[in-house]
Amino acid sequence: MQNTIKKPTLTLAIAGTILMSACNQTAPKSNTSMTDSTTTTAAATLPAAAGFEKTIDGKPTKLYILKNKNGVEAGITNYGGTLVGLLVPDKDGKLTDVVVGFDGIEGFQKAAGSYYGATIGRYGNRIAKGKFTLDGKQYSIFTNNGANTLHGGKKGFDANVWDAKQVDSTTLELTYLSKDMEEGYPGNLNVKITYKLTDDNELKISYEATTDKNTVVNLTNHSYFNLNGAGSGTNLEHLVQIDADGYTPVDTTLIPTGKIEPVKGTPFDFTTPTTIGARIEEDNAQIKAGGGYDHNYVLNKHDISKPIATVIGDKSGIKMEVFTEEPGLQFYTGNFMQGKNTILGGKKDDHRTAFAMETQHYPDSPNQPNFPSTVLKPGAVYKTQTIYKFSVK
Ligand code: GLA
Repeated sequence: MQNTIKKPTLTLAIAGTILMSACNQTAPKSNTSMTDSTTTTAAATLPAAAGFEKTIDGKPTKLYILKNKNGVEAGITNYGGTLVGLLVPDKDGKLTDVVVGFDGIEGFQKAAGSYYGATIGRYGNRIAKGKFTLDGKQYSIFTNNGANTLHGGKKGFDANVWDAKQVDSTTLELTYLSKDMEEGYPGNLNVKITYKLTDDNELKISYEATTDKNTVVNLTNHSYFNLNGAGSGTNLEHLVQIDADGYTPVDTTLIPTGKIEPVKGTPFDFTTPTTIGARIEEDNAQIKAGGGYDHNYVLNKHDISKPIATVIGDKSGIKMEVFTEEPGLQFYTGNFMQGKNTILGGKKDDHRTAFAMETQHYPDSPNQPNFPSTVLKPGAVYKTQTIYKFSVK
């Protein structure tokens, strides 16, 4: 599937503003009777389980629900290891769904090229021309994004059914065997992902993988966040801070040039809190290449105890902090969203109505000797963790 960059229009911007003020909260959703007695708009709920009960590739799919003691809920399906919805309290304590999702698996399948909420693998983001060389041998993988491979290939981890084990009310384990040469990648890769919802309102995603042949691995989650509530309007007034002094500029097909450029003095500088919209229309070649932000940030030296990004929803007061062990962060502002899909609650997935923060190794690393390596060898364990933590400002 090829992404095409859609130019923002004034109409869209106005429509977004109207939507934002008119629909601060998505319509109530199906499966619970939770209501908020202090406000007129109902609290958000997760979609009904029925839309997720299917058989795909001969395997059963389901909606799994994690819930912590604060009433925070995460809905995850084993189809694509996908985060379907995430209910967190806003500044008034009202549960708000901060992740764009659909009322059933078909919605996710129809919007497959957008990777809503999905687990991404075997290689997150792009590999130039669908080719890389490992141990002197060239591998060709399926090209699904113009000349390049994006997010795994034709049928990435997002479109496969995972085996699921709900360990307890806050923990879900998903496993998947990506067979030798699946999509063209060498080695049988055994992958385990654990979603854990803590009582500190953190969604922790732990990734583990082992291989029986040298291969490349880059796993991430592709949730689209709108901290004012999915379907509540554009992301442009969200306040963003990213702890990165550098980023990897791209060519017109969004493949890194190989350079690491400083963000200072460019629209890419989020070292101090700035709204998404403040510079997104600037006359800057990189902004133009991405149709907005669609770039990998080279995170400053950090460990998992320190947030590498913080975002605040201007209307809801919901704050999201991102913690990761990964060296990079793909900050994507929904530039390819085109309003073609109806999301949970009935709104369309309009242009720039959500953003993604995909923790990762840098795009096209298998072809970029200067970037941190994504090679996994037999005997080694790929192990990494990302946390999305929610509070109110
Ligand atoms: C990533 C890519 C974007 C786009 C989205 C999915 O964020 O970098 O260019 O393809 O996935 O639409």
